[in-house]
Amino acid sequence: MPDGLKSRLITALAGSGAYVIADETTAELALGEPRRIAPFAAHAEQEHHQDAILTVGSLGKTVWGGLRVGWIRAAPELIGRLEASRRIGDLGTGVWEQVLALHALEQYDGILAERTQQLTSRHRALVAGLAEHLPEWRPSPAVGGVCVWVDIGERASSRLSRAAAELDLHLPPGPRFGSPGTFERFVRLPFSAPEATLDKALQRLAQAWNGGAGSAGAGRAAPAAFTEAVI
Ligand SMILES: Cc1ncc(COP(=O)(O)O)c(C=O)c1O
Repeated sequence: MPDGLKSRLITALAGSGAYVIADETTAELALGEPRRIAPFAAHAEQEHHQDAILTVGSLGKTVWGGLRVGWIRAAPELIGRLEASRRIGDLGTGVWEQVLALHALEQYDGILAERTQQLTSRHRALVAGLAEHLPEWRPSPAVGGVCVWVDIGERASSRLSRAAAELDLHLPPGPRFGSPGTFERFVRLPFSAPEATLDKALQRLAQAWNGGAGSAGAGRAAPAAFTEAVI
């Protein structure tokens, strides 16, 4: 989101008394070069609007999905209330995870550079694989993050997801990521897996599509048995 739009959004939302929750979990993951971003609240034009903004982040995408450590950045008063309410739900984040997170943060720039390189290459592989296996689909240009939205040309995302599951490929349909009824013409394809896995997953996705999930290709190819690929 361009900085100017962030400022306008904050003015409109915080100005009308709403809280703003900005999820910046993947914001530092650029394709090409790592990028530094200012916390969302830094874009508030009026200082008191900062108190209405909660920025959430996690090491789950930038460092490793197995490291279950995230954070909330907000005004101290709000953090105090969140901390108090959390104690009701669990006993806190494990010490072991917190120590690992601390080590990761000490080497964060290096990790981010490596991760950016890795994701850039995987993104390239995914886009090339799409052009090869599903040339009629239109991936949106991605500048970062860990997934790409793809226009599949018809409202068949849920159908495709079910057909893919039959082939043991688990891909949540587009509407899972929006309000009910939206994104049925889209799929969200993660490119966080290694290149070889992505290629196998795309082959299997193409089979699900051509085997009947995409009406344009209905009845073309019979699904073969793949077992390893999972998106
Ligand atoms: C935008 C965004 N925020 C937050 C999360 C949750 O991340 P984690 O549970 O790994 O901390 C995800 C996971 O997919 C995500 O895509």
